[in-house]
Amino acid sequence: MMRRPISAPDLRLLPWDERGLGLLKAMNTPEQKRYLGGIETAEKMDERHGRYLTYHRPGETEMVMIERDGAIVGSTGYWESAWRGTPAYETGWEVVAGQHGQGIGATAVGQLLGRLKPLARHDYVYAFPTPDNPGSNGICRKLGFELTGVEEAEYPKGVWSPHNIWRLNLRA
Ligand SMILES: CC(C)(COP(=O)(O)OP(=O)(O)OC[C@H]1O[C@@H](n2cnc3c(N)ncnc32)[C@H](O)[C@@H]1OP(=O)(O)O)[C@@H](O)C(=O)NCCC(=O)NCCS
Repeated sequence: MMRRPISAPDLRLLPWDERGLGLLKAMNTPEQKRYLGGIETAEKMDERHGRYLTYHRPGETEMVMIERDGAIVGSTGYWESAWRGTPAYETGWEVVAGQHGQGIGATAVGQLLGRLKPLARHDYVYAFPTPDNPGSNGICRKLGFELTGVEEAEYPKGVWSPHNIWRLNLRA
């Protein structure tokens, strides 16, 4: 079935709540985790869910569930980190497998970062997709991130691979 293109009003960003654990489980497949170091254990998902339940601090750390037509279809968030010693934000995203390629990711991330901009206490937000992840690099390109380089990075713990270094100027 062809679906009409997504626009911002079609999506709602909901604060992370108890439904988030089900979302993490639904997205924990080898295909979905192909560029993220493989599937996670139940313990890791519980730990992640518990942490995300506390990520309700606009301007500092937020993790939200993406809702479309009453269904939870993905997640996105940002958190404080540092790049080469300078405080910054990092961002990430995931959309459930059956819903890829319709603009959900780019629209939701654009909405969230638009919300962050007036509150931002750091100049840049960074994203680090692996170079072979077309959807994730596509989101960065579409939202006007600048590709500043590629570096070996450890994600998840113990797994080293090249990652693109994209950054978006939140003051622009
Ligand atoms: C990355 C991810 C969130 C993208 O979400 P999505 O809703 O499919 O992305 P969108 O539909 O908004 O696409 C954003 C851009 O990327 C492009 N894109 C998306 N999937 C693509 C694919 N498989 N091949 C080529 N380009 C792709 C789109 O064309 C779009 O650009 P355009 O509008 O200029 O054409 C989704 O693929 C996903 O959940 N992947 C698994 C988890 C993951 O890897 N997360 C990121 C970790 S860094």
